[in-house]
Parts: sequence; structure tokens; C-alpha cells
Amino acid sequence: MSNGNVILKVENLKKSYNNKVVLDGVTLQVEKGITKVILGPSGVGKSTLLKCINLLTTPDSGKIWLEGIELTDPDVDINKMRQRIGFVFQEFNLFNHLTVLKNVMIGPVKVKKIPEEEAYKIAAKALERVHISKELWNKYPAQISGGEKQRVAIARALAMQPSIILYDEPTSALDPSLVGEVLQVIKELSDAGMTSLIVTHELHFALEVANELLFMYGGKIVEQGPPEELISNPKHEIVKKYFASIYTRGR
Ligand SMILES: Nc1ncnc2c1ncn2[C@@H]1O[C@H](COP(=O)(O)OP(=O)(O)O)[C@@H](O)[C@H]1O
Ligand SMILES: [Mg+2]
Repeated sequence: MSNGNVILKVENLKKSYNNKVVLDGVTLQVEKGITKVILGPSGVGKSTLLKCINLLTTPDSGKIWLEGIELTDPDVDINKMRQRIGFVFQEFNLFNHLTVLKNVMIGPVKVKKIPEEEAYKIAAKALERVHISKELWNKYPAQISGGEKQRVAIARALAMQPSIILYDEPTSALDPSLVGEVLQVIKELSDAGMTSLIVTHELHFALEVANELLFMYGGKIVEQGPPEELISNPKHEIVKKYFASIYTRGR
């Protein structure tokens, strides 16, 4: 890979489950400081794609590079590379037995072997960036709201100082009144130059945050481009229908 500005590159990625093709040759790249949003109906393989990128799922074929290092190379140190990829799930996935602060510190301490004192500073900074005030640091996940939980989950990703953050429908599990605060944080990070790949159905947010939209269907990226262009002039019938359905749902 020659372009040093490319953080993530995915080439012709394929994945089937029980002979059902889910990813049918996905190719994309995300450049440094850029935010791309993947749109598409449910069941088209968006989560599978993100899981393959984060090495939670092994693709059948195709290649993935992170900062020029091939993740799909059988000899790659997967645990080491995974540290460089932040992942924010729909369902927060916080450790319920750990406080907010410890949830954010645990990655730097356990995985990166950073001393507690330094990990505390990293966690404090990450929590500040997602606007989680100090009164919440010693609370447990069960004691905070869904929006706060998801912001803590984002802080946890940030604390690992990742090269890219992958978000898989980060607001889908939230009460509508809490969606805004999470999207705001993602947008702030994105504006500050965090390289991001986001799966979401929040079309207005996608328009605001994305440098580029990618539309996934039938296991492939069927259309991609600058947000205004893609929305105002979609070429594929399926993309037109998707936008129409989202607008009718009023999202
Ligand atoms: N672990 C799995 N085993 C079998 N089938 C799966 C698995 N994960 C996903 N699938 C199937 O792959 C398809 C795509 O799923 P997914 O990637 O979750 O789509 P999306 O995130 O776009 O809704 C679905 O038909 C789903 O049932
Ligand atoms: Mg999904």
C-alpha cells in the first residue's frame, strides 16, 4: 500500500455464513482524519463488515490493511493490531462490575500495560472529551443513563488512542431523547480529526458528520460519494427507496 494517508483499506472482502453470502466483495478505504458513514437496510452485512475489520470475525477472502499493515496476513499479531481499532457497539458493552473510570482505564492498564497513574490521566482526558463529568466517574454503568453509557464506551475506545474508531449503530439502543448527546460527541471527535467509520440510520447526522457516504446492499458497496451528491442524486433504485423510507419515518 503506497498511500501513507490511508488508515484503513478493505479490498474485495467476502464472507458467507452457512452458504449464504453476506459480504460479496466489499472494497473501501478511509483516509486519515476522514469520517465515512455506511448506510443500508438491515441484514445487508454492515455489522459483519465492521466485525471483519476488527478481526472479531474472520473473512473468507479479501484483504484488510490498517496503516499499511495487512490484518488478514496469517502471521499478523492480531491482539496488537486490534488495540489500534476502537469499536463502539450498539449495546455499549461496558463492564457492569467496574466504575465508569475503571471501565475507561482498564484497556490502557491491562492491555497496554500503562502504569495506573498515567492510565488515570489518559482516562480523565477521554472522559472530558465525551463530557462525562467527574461526579459520574465513580458510578457503575447501572447508575447512569444510556446516553452516558454510550459516551463512556466512546471514552473507553478513545483511551486506547486508536488509529480509527468503528461505530456500529451507536444510537440504535437509545431512548430518542438521548440520541443527540451521543451524536454530538461523535461529531466533535470527528471534527477534531478522529478517523471514523460509522454505521447508522440517522440520516441527518450522517449528512452532517460524513465526508463520504457509502451505501451497502447485496453484500457490496453499491454507491458512494459526498453526502449531498448521494442524497440528491442517487443512482440505484434501492438507494432511492431507502432514502424515501427514512424520510417517511421522519428520522
Ligand atoms: N454469526 C453469524 N452466523 C450466521 N449468520 C450470521 C451471523 N452474523 C450475521 N449473520 C447473517 O448475516 C447477515 C448480515 O447480518 P449483519 O451483518 O448483522 O447485517 P446488518 O448489520 O447490515 O443488519 C444476516 O442475514 C445475518 O443473519
Ligand atoms: Mg448491524
